[in-house]
Amino acid sequence: MTDDYYNRKYAEGDFDYNPEYELVWLQKHLIDRFGLQPGNRVLDLGCGKGLHASLLAGFDLQVFGVEKTVEGVKGAKERGSTAEFIQASAGDLATYFDEEYFDMIYCRGMSWFHRELHEVCEVTGVNVSEKVPGFFRFIKPGGLFVLQISTDFSGRCPENDVHNNRLSEFVRLFDPHGEIVHKSNWSGVEVTDDEQATAVKGNLVITTKK
Ligand SMILES: C[S@@+](CC[C@H](N)C(=O)[O-])C[C@H]1O[C@@H](n2cnc3c(N)ncnc32)[C@H](O)[C@@H]1O
Repeated sequence: MTDDYYNRKYAEGDFDYNPEYELVWLQKHLIDRFGLQPGNRVLDLGCGKGLHASLLAGFDLQVFGVEKTVEGVKGAKERGSTAEFIQASAGDLATYFDEEYFDMIYCRGMSWFHRELHEVCEVTGVNVSEKVPGFFRFIKPGGLFVLQISTDFSGRCPENDVHNNRLSEFVRLFDPHGEIVHKSNWSGVEVTDDEQATAVKGNLVITTKK
């Protein structure tokens, strides 16, 4: 999906979220699971219209949201939380942040991770595997990169739609950058290998400790 697509989408509304559901999910599957503490610095990378960043800020975390689209950042700021929102590309973090700044980078569905992971994607122009090391520079030693992404793990990659990358392709992406400490579907069911993940389904949370 292009910037135009998301600008139009965010000008008209947002994804169909239930904020209460998302709040409970974040508490259980992010804050409690990974032991985030008040004052920890969290970056929501590709934060869209800022719902999750704003909810996280309510847990007394120091939250930043980076989002490429004007309308996303405008809507995120209008939520009035303590989170700070920056209109920028994920590739430009060095303009805004010091290295080893964050306790956690939380990346929920950022477009790059929806496509080819290990080669240049014609749509985004990005080879994600070449960008990921750049993200880890901004995480403290011992900090976490959490990717939450939709996939049915099948490897089906429709030309004009988001891809369903396999679990092993995500593992290959993060393995060089630390210890993968968590792999589950969005309900919290552990996923272990491609075959089991394809049977379990339910999308992916994969967490790497630097
Ligand atoms: C599927 S949406 C997810 C938005 C939000 N994280 C959520 O879960 O509602 C993908 C988001 O990634 C953003 N995005 C795409 N490329 C980006 C980039 N290079 N830098 C920052 N954000 C980007 C899009 O503008 C869009 O808001």
